Parts: sequence; C-alpha cells; structure tokens
Amino acid sequence: MPETILANATLILPDGKMRGAVTVEGGRIVEIAEGGAVPRGAVDLGGDILAPGLIELHTDNLERHIEPRPKVDWPHTAAILAHDAELAGVGITTVFDALRVGSIQKRDTSYRRYARPLASEILDLRARGALRISHFLHLRAEVCSETLAEELAEFTPGDSVGIVSLMDHTPGQRQFRDVEKLRAYVQGKRGYSEADFQDHIANLRALRDEYGDMHEAAAVAEAARLGAVLASHDDTTEDHVTTSAAYGIRLAEFPTTEEAASACHRAGIAVMMGAPNLIRGGSHSGNVAAEDLARMGLLDIVSSDYVPAALLMAAFRLGALWDDLPRGIATVTAAPAAASGLHDRGRIAEGLRADLIRIALAGETPVVRATWVAGQRVA
Ligand SMILES: [Fe+2]
Repeated sequence: MPETILANATLILPDGKMRGAVTVEGGRIVEIAEGGAVPRGAVDLGGDILAPGLIELHTDNLERHIEPRPKVDWPHTAAILAHDAELAGVGITTVFDALRVGSIQKRDTSYRRYARPLASEILDLRARGALRISHFLHLRAEVCSETLAEELAEFTPGDSVGIVSLMDHTPGQRQFRDVEKLRAYVQGKRGYSEADFQDHIANLRALRDEYGDMHEAAAVAEAARLGAVLASHDDTTEDHVTTSAAYGIRLAEFPTTEEAASACHRAGIAVMMGAPNLIRGGSHSGNVAAEDLARMGLLDIVSSDYVPAALLMAAFRLGALWDDLPRGIATVTAAPAAASGLHDRGRIAEGLRADLIRIALAGETPVVRATWVAGQRVA
C-alpha cells in the first residue's frame, strides 16, 4: 500500500495541538511533521482537525438496527452493516458491541437469550472483512437473571470478548436505587400496569436472592478465562467500589454517585460516563450528572451508550469545559484504549494504527468529514 500524507491539519496530539502532517504507510502512522506545508501528492486538510479515531466501549446501538420498530426482527447481517456504517460516519473506529448475557426465560419472556448467535454473526462478518471499523465484544453480565453462567460458558477465548461488565439491575439499588425511576422506565418501555410492575420487581428480587452471588462469582471467573477486562457497572456506594477493586476491576461504567466516582479514583479505577448524560445535562435514571464529575476531575472516559453521534459531541463539550480540546478528545480515544488494553491505537503517535478522523465545525457542532481505519478511508 503506498503512503498517504494528510497535510495542513490541526493535529490533536497527546500533549496538545499542532499544525502539521501525518504520514501513513502499511496501516500505521510512520511520521508526524510540523508546519502547514502540503507536499506533492498529499491530501490538504485545509486546517481541519485531525484526531485519533474514537473508541467506544459500551454501545447497545446495534439493538436499534435489529429491532427498528417494536417486534420487527430486521435481518441481522443488514442490521450489523448499518450499525457499522453509522459508527464509521460519526468517527468511531473501534467499538465494543455490548450484548447482554443472562436472560429470564421462565418468568418474563422480555429478557430472552440472544447474545451467542448474534456474537457469531458479528464475528463472521468481521472475518469476511465486511466491516468498516474494528469490532470487539462487550458481554454485559446480568447477575439478576436465570441463565448467566450457562450463557457465558458458550463463549471461548477466541471470540474477541474484550470486556465483561458486572451488571446488577435489581430494583432498589445501583442504577435503580430510586424505584420510581424504574417504574417510569419499565412502564414507558413496556406499558406495564401497576400490578404487572409489582410482579416484575418481585420476580427480579427473587432472582437476585436465588442466583446473584453465584452469577457474580461466575462472571469474574469467566472474564479471566476469556482474557477480557472486567468492568463494574452502576457502582453507587463506597462498598460497591471496594468489592469492585477486590475483583481486580480497573474500569467503572456509569458510577451513579459522586461518592462512588471519587472512591473509584482512590482505588485506581477509571470512571466512564455516558455521553447522553453529558449532552442532556443529567442522567435519565436520576443519577449523578456527568458534567459535575467532569468539573471535579472525576471523569476519565466517555461512552456514547445509546447515541453514537453523541461521542464526539461530548468530547468537544468536555474540551470547552476544561478549555483543553486534547484532554476532551482523550476521554474518547487514549483513555478508553488504555482501559480496554488496546495499546496499538488511541493516539496520534508514530508506530500506532492509522485510525484517524478529520473534523470540521458547523458552529459549535463537530462534523466528521472523513474516517480512516488502519489507513483505509472508510467514511
Ligand atoms: Fe445500568
């Protein structure tokens, strides 16, 4: 593959901005040069921003493509391709597709099993070279379920499971400490009556009692077997963080309180918050605002959660808040790369993968004008 020079760009480097050029060869960044010169044959970026490609650790965006309307099961191959193209278009070059493992079959058919076959479909498309960006799997291990242990056992170390996160969505704690917020969420999503809702939460609490501890231990052991990073989810109290730290966790998804986020930092655990929370100015389940954590220096990583286009917007929002765009960009590039153990990407640095995005601004909104994955233009 011949070399490509992306010249006359505003480069977002790990330690600041610089007008310069990046030379790409064999899918890697081979040279970074300072200045606005445009050598013969180079692409003139006209001063646009050139940043590392974004790294998304937790998105359930694929679900929206598989079920574009309630009860519509869209052909999965087409859904995965549309999801992949959407991510490339908003500047995401590496994604950990979040799949729930742990289903409820006997008592509530709305948590059905789906992760293993869908994972195989994603991995098959990846093996065919049909996907534009890098895909890894993120298994969301729901301990409050019936089938977690047996579903995890269906995965092997060859399945590219990069992250296993430990989820406990039992009513009355963590994300749903406030049961009223759960009521609004579940009734809005499923149209439950009051009796249905009471039944639902009683069932979930019974499942937690029956399986919770066994499932938590299984998830910790299975993450190690799969070679995956273990993450916590919705830590709320200092005790939760102490438990996470004892499991060797170094990544906390969406801690729900300032207390938990600061305990994470004392324990050396990186804090990830949702981009929609940052853009909307608060959490949809009534938990701590990501922006407050950012002001306190307690936010390290941003995830787009359920809106892929929010990731770059959030990075710019943080850049403005901190008056430091490279620091804002690092929350969606270098920081998630480090937390997920991907040491070959996430920064513009010689020797790393040429996962790059060209960004212009429309007013205050960042616009992705081009995306390269391992030096190949994919959007
Ligand atoms: Fe959650």
